[in-house]
Amino acid sequence: MPFLLSLLSCCLQVAAQNNIATEQKINSLIKKMTLQEKLGMIHANSSFTSNGVARLNIPELVMSDGPHGVRPEHGRDWEKDENVNDSGTYLPTGNTLAATWNPALGYQYGAVLGSEAKWRGKDVILGPGINIIRTPLNGRNFEYLSEDPYLISKMVVGYIQGVQAQGISACVKHFAANNQEILRNSINVEMSERALREIYLPGFKAAVLTGKVNTLMGAYNKFRGQWCTHNKYLINDILKKEWKFDGIVISDWGAVHNTKEALENGTDIEMGSEFTLKSGTDYSKFFLADSAVASVKMDKVKLDKLLDDKVRRILRIMYRTKLAASKKSTGSYATKEHSAVAAKVAEEGIVLLKNNDHFFPIQKKNIKTIAVIGENAARPNAYGGGSSQVKALYEVTPLQGIKNILKGTDVTVSYARGYKIERNAAANDTLIAEAVKAAANADVVIVAGGWVHGYNYNVWNDNAYDAEGFDKPNMDMPFGQNELINAVLKVNPNVAVVLMGGGAIDVSGWDKKVKTIIEAWYPGMEGGNALAKIIFGEINPSGKLPVTFPKHLSESPAHVLGEYPGDSVNVKYSDDIFVGYRYFDTYKVQPQFAFGHGLSYTSFEYKNLQVNYANKATTVTLIIKNTGGTAGAEVVQVYVNEKSPEIKRPEKELKAFAKVMLKAGEEKQIKLTLDENAFQYFSEAKNKWVMKPGRFNILVGSSSADIRLEKGVDVK
Ligand code: BGC
Repeated sequence: MPFLLSLLSCCLQVAAQNNIATEQKINSLIKKMTLQEKLGMIHANSSFTSNGVARLNIPELVMSDGPHGVRPEHGRDWEKDENVNDSGTYLPTGNTLAATWNPALGYQYGAVLGSEAKWRGKDVILGPGINIIRTPLNGRNFEYLSEDPYLISKMVVGYIQGVQAQGISACVKHFAANNQEILRNSINVEMSERALREIYLPGFKAAVLTGKVNTLMGAYNKFRGQWCTHNKYLINDILKKEWKFDGIVISDWGAVHNTKEALENGTDIEMGSEFTLKSGTDYSKFFLADSAVASVKMDKVKLDKLLDDKVRRILRIMYRTKLAASKKSTGSYATKEHSAVAAKVAEEGIVLLKNNDHFFPIQKKNIKTIAVIGENAARPNAYGGGSSQVKALYEVTPLQGIKNILKGTDVTVSYARGYKIERNAAANDTLIAEAVKAAANADVVIVAGGWVHGYNYNVWNDNAYDAEGFDKPNMDMPFGQNELINAVLKVNPNVAVVLMGGGAIDVSGWDKKVKTIIEAWYPGMEGGNALAKIIFGEINPSGKLPVTFPKHLSESPAHVLGEYPGDSVNVKYSDDIFVGYRYFDTYKVQPQFAFGHGLSYTSFEYKNLQVNYANKATTVTLIIKNTGGTAGAEVVQVYVNEKSPEIKRPEKELKAFAKVMLKAGEEKQIKLTLDENAFQYFSEAKNKWVMKPGRFNILVGSSSADIRLEKGVDVK
């Protein structure tokens, strides 16, 4: 032990000395730079780059979207670069990753992105997107992770560390409270300090303090009256002072509105392009470019100090990444190994929501015909959704996945389109009639439906439901899918519905009548294969919902307690801390599918719960046993409830979880530790996190609504 301690202290000393040496190098570089050179580094010089200083060997900083793959190359300012190989790995979207509840997969996911970004000559990958999923309507929910700050905090760290281990910077976005796309460029978000601290910030805090993220993107919206990208409270006071973030704050594209505020309130690089800025592509007209900065009345010493801080941050991150001697790998691109990560995330992220009569898994030998219905079954999604678009090397659709798995068997697969993807399209009688015919002649029917992306980034609203810049008009199944499913059910009771998309959708028109419901999100390039393996039992599903599915939109807390989308100037989050299951559980509203819910083909027994408090740590141990006949993984979830709180607290809050793989009949002991944070709430009166010593309940279960074991503990 003494040897290990002295080794550790020696390593820390070396690291500190290296840091001092790097900071000295940076200071001497800054001394050599002209004002123009500094200004060049703090604003865009093309849609995805900012200037370097060639004479000092400082390279440009090269960025790329996005959260689930490296974006297709648009060269400089959207000129298509024909000479580049940009068909890459299309990973499942953020919501799918979150549904794995497997932080180790977060790391692998990030490592794929980092490696591909490196291969494509990028320095910064513009992800992960981690805004809280507050309303089912947000058009970007598919990019985001969860309604729960603890789950986000756990998943985001792996992602960031995976990216950054490749010598590439992650960019956590969009800081903060960018929870709707509608009005995103103008809306002012108002919320309590408690909601900010308990719900909207913890993911970012974990990204900075634990994930050590190199860069962060400011959001488009305003927060408490000031634009987020140059919001004094969010960026200077919280991010840079409280959390000691020493990396780069990058504006969202076109999110800077004021030179003085951007200079003073922590924006380090102003980005944007002809789409987002009125200046067109004249980068010299940017808010952080020469003439705008020159026109600000500010003491020269102060201005120099502000500029030097921004440049210092950029150089610091360059020395941690592209200028670091140890980070010279070239990365790799579109490899089999990367596809395998995409497959694994889909296999663990797809969620079995309902499964009556053991309808799934389907035994190939028991069927002769299968009808696959729905335009979503045959539609690729990689290229849609806005800035997160990916040019996929390939994308296995659900239909293709089902055909692949049935190759070599004598099962016949028929396909009917069923509905037409077109914004505001109603049920199409001809397509429904074709689908009914296919269903009538089949042993089993799989309808693939739900939401869709727009195809083309230039027309994001083109048929888009899940897309940047737009929210969904409602939570209903679009394109007449309810009519389709009900028509199919009339001729064949053996129907499963596969949902795709950004999350909660109203299934109340048919949910009781179908045998099985699966949430497949946007499961990436291998998604169809992963789905087929789950349908036919080669993979035992283990995904769990990272969001609550309300029965109807009108029961969603942002719409019941809060405002959405606001009065076009302000949106008040009066739903406060009661986001997602915190609302449904506390207000006793039954959701359609609860947070943390997800079925398996096997069953799990929870037993022998013990909870011990000692030395400020609460240890939770239990035994989990696979009591069914198939190997499978269970996500053991630990929630905390305060017996008699001083102020209103949620009925329960997730504070620990573990994904456990168990063979048939196997049992394992699980041990989870809760620190003091698990019992705290944010006191507005004291303006800090506090814990009231006393009795807490520890609730352990398979979802927020399926608590299997419970025990009290006195925490001091
Ligand atoms: C999006 C960001 C994205 C950026 C660059 C913005 O419109 O909000 O998430 O990274 O564009 O494409």
